Amino acid sequence: MALPRIEDMAELTTIAQLCQYSGKTVRLQGWVYNTRSGGKIGFLMLRDGTGIVQCVMSRDDIGEEKFRAFKTLTQESSVTVDGEVRADQRASGGYELLASALTVHQIAAEYPISPKEHGAAFLLDHRHLWLRSRRQHAIMLIRHEIIRACRDFLDDNGFILIDTPIITPNAVEGTTTLFKIDYFDRLAYLTQSGQLYNEANAMAFGKVYCFGPTFRSEKSKTRRHLTEFWMLEPEMAYCDLELDMVWAEKLVAGIVERVLERRRPQLEVLERDTAPLEAIKTPFPRMSYTAAVEVLHKAGVDFEWGGDFGGGDETVISEKFDQPLLVHRFPAAIKAFYMKLDGDDPRLALGMDILAPEGYGEIVGGGQREEDPDILLRRMREENLDEADYQWYLDLRRYGSVPHAGFGLGIERVVAWICGLSHVRETIAYPRMLNRLEP
Ligand code: 4AD
Ligand code: MG
Repeated sequence: MALPRIEDMAELTTIAQLCQYSGKTVRLQGWVYNTRSGGKIGFLMLRDGTGIVQCVMSRDDIGEEKFRAFKTLTQESSVTVDGEVRADQRASGGYELLASALTVHQIAAEYPISPKEHGAAFLLDHRHLWLRSRRQHAIMLIRHEIIRACRDFLDDNGFILIDTPIITPNAVEGTTTLFKIDYFDRLAYLTQSGQLYNEANAMAFGKVYCFGPTFRSEKSKTRRHLTEFWMLEPEMAYCDLELDMVWAEKLVAGIVERVLERRRPQLEVLERDTAPLEAIKTPFPRMSYTAAVEVLHKAGVDFEWGGDFGGGDETVISEKFDQPLLVHRFPAAIKAFYMKLDGDDPRLALGMDILAPEGYGEIVGGGQREEDPDILLRRMREENLDEADYQWYLDLRRYGSVPHAGFGLGIERVVAWICGLSHVRETIAYPRMLNRLEP
């Protein structure tokens, strides 16, 4: 049974729903985008978060007093307008409102954001207001759609959402990017990834995922790094590296397809060239780390086998592809302790990354997990992790250990790529970066 839809009531409708009410009277609640007025007639562009509609304000219809109030409205003043919905070819959205009543809630002070060019720092300082603008609106709607696509894809494929903790005693992705917190006189951290708990959940439920904020005290100032970012992490029992890559590529292709299907108007606002997105199809090309290093060498990049790829390296490696590129089998030394070693070459770990096309770099990281408790212990010692904190994790290898794999998809990186943005700071409502904690 469908859930009740509150929006289907004329007095609670939104601009996006106006097509259902042609010729009828509705009530819209929103904010003033701008106004124009002549003698006895004026126009109020009203935005309500779902769209913008022109309201025709006639002095004869709303009365002398309300018409005077209308004339005092400033940008972002908050108002309720009652009126009749009229189809109008010329109107954006195809409808306008013939106002019959106006209620003014607040006259806004002079709005700091104007159509003129503002610098990035100014806009970020005013992020709480900047979110009202058309471009930011389009980005947030696409982000919403991407998250919904992720959830739908996993839910429809039998994955169970199980939330993992944000406060944890365990490091997952190395010890250098941990945010420490004082947990009643004990040292705890903000989670870097839900993965270790996901592994426990996969042993209980088969296919699981977590989705939540993750934290890295990244000291680097790049276009791709936030200190707080949202990660979608699926984890599958009885899964190896090859199957892991298949899940990941199907998810990524599914996200792109969904955004193209439902968010074309927003991509248009962003002036995103959709041709590269329309070309995305599975299977994605695959390349080993070692082959990727050769690509770098052929391109004249000075890079030593064994190192970690930087953003610039990733761009060079993926340049020749118009598809996301799956890079696999990295040197174990640069990967986390939990990654399974390659049976054919123990210098390698069975990890994989997806590099987005158009130079966007890594959007997914994951791989097969080590199931052997002895190797796992050795790797933990090499990384100076305190065994005592990981006994619960080692239990997973003691009680019915099976091949398993998973990955993490960084929502902001995916939003930046799909929207065609040059920096991740616009992909999240309130970005947290090295030098930014406010607003
Ligand atoms: O490659 P990462 O570090 O992998 C993990 O955390 C695994 N434990 C995930 C797993 O297997 N369950 O991070 C995964 C993804 C990256 O590919 C990137 O998209 C994103 O998370 N990411 C960041 N996004 C924004 N800012 C940062 N500082 C990020 N660090 C990672
Ligand atoms: Mg990674």
